[in-house]
Amino acid sequence: MKLKILVTAGDGIGPEVTNEAVSVLKEVAAIGGHQFTFSERRIGGVAIVKDGTPLPADTLAEALDSDAVLLGAVGGNEFNSLAPDKRPEAGLLGIRSALGGFANLRPAFAFKELAVNSPLRPEVIDGADILFVRELLGGLYFGQPREWDRAKGEAWNTMRYTKGEVVRVARIAFELARKRNKKVTSVDKANVLEVSQLWRATVIEVAADFPDVSLEHQYVDAMSMHLMNRPRDFDVVVTENLFGDILSDEAGVITGSLGMLPSATIGGKVNLYEPIHGSAPDIAGKGLANPFGAILTGALILRHSAGLEAEALAIETAVRRVLEQGFRTPDLARANPEGFPVLSTTEVGVKVRENVKALLVNA
Ligand code: NAD
Ligand code: IPM
Ligand code: MN
Repeated sequence: MKLKILVTAGDGIGPEVTNEAVSVLKEVAAIGGHQFTFSERRIGGVAIVKDGTPLPADTLAEALDSDAVLLGAVGGNEFNSLAPDKRPEAGLLGIRSALGGFANLRPAFAFKELAVNSPLRPEVIDGADILFVRELLGGLYFGQPREWDRAKGEAWNTMRYTKGEVVRVARIAFELARKRNKKVTSVDKANVLEVSQLWRATVIEVAADFPDVSLEHQYVDAMSMHLMNRPRDFDVVVTENLFGDILSDEAGVITGSLGMLPSATIGGKVNLYEPIHGSAPDIAGKGLANPFGAILTGALILRHSAGLEAEALAIETAVRRVLEQGFRTPDLARANPEGFPVLSTTEVGVKVRENVKALLVNA
């Protein structure tokens, strides 16, 4: 299997966590005789500093010429006063839009070893397994007009969706639900917003093609509570861009840390893979970052861009084993009543590779 992967590590903890993800992928390639090639390009704050733009042309060209893009994270406090279109985050939105993937899959799985790390009761989260399907190219993030008119003291953004944009992401949600527990929860704010009324009506239309999948609707405010109260009741959750951004971070409470959550963006020219967390400037450069989310993102590359399901599963199992063996990163050792060894980012990466090797060599 040949795979050309572009790594855009970005800012803050981005380089630290993507390094571990790449090392795990290299281990998989070495064991299976696969040819994965990795190139690196700048994006985000590091690109603003070196190239004067958050998304340099050669980064985009290389991305479009790759089979998959693995992105770390972008953003840093030193850029916070810049206008939205000049910030590191603009580079991320730019590459998302250019690659064209509209369905951002954000699986959130509660590892039982991490239950103690969650502020939720173990019996509430035990077995929770949710797949968020976040629409990634529409809504407030990309809607026009948008402006901050400083003279007037007024600013506006536009939440806009076309029916076609809702249809295509809803179809992905139903198709994925078919392979899981056959339940879709569509999240909107149809009691207030016209955009959400279009969203809901369209999802209902799409559902007619999937009679074997059940559909329910939740308002986003209530959903944020249901997620904490009864996360096991959800299977596939489909929602628009901003709601998906917010609810998927909330899922970090179910999984015990934001650092556990991977994502894959599909449906465009080139799939884009990124852990859902940000650049975590508060812990960057100290070896404190949890690389599991990035490593699990690597597993999603194998699943969605390489068709290497057994290898993807091996990475996911290896992560579980490392947790079973009692190793933790600092964010996962908040309570740590059992005094588990707390490892650095790179030490955790080594443990995952050891387990991947044991799993794949003996397969
Ligand atoms: P964040 O996700 O970077 O951090 C939130 C909190 O979670 C912090 O306390 C951080 O230390 C912790 N955290 C996050 N990832 C972790 C990991 N892997 N291991 C351990 N702890 C982790 O969000 P923020 O602080 O709101 O934003 C920081 C910057 O990141 C901003 O510039 C923001 O725009 C950007 N951001 C980028 C992305 C992305 O590139 N995909 C995603 C979210 C935020
Ligand atoms: C995410 C991030 C991004 C988003 C930001 C950094 C643009 O929060 O990937 O969840 O809002 O999509
Ligand atoms: Mn986010």
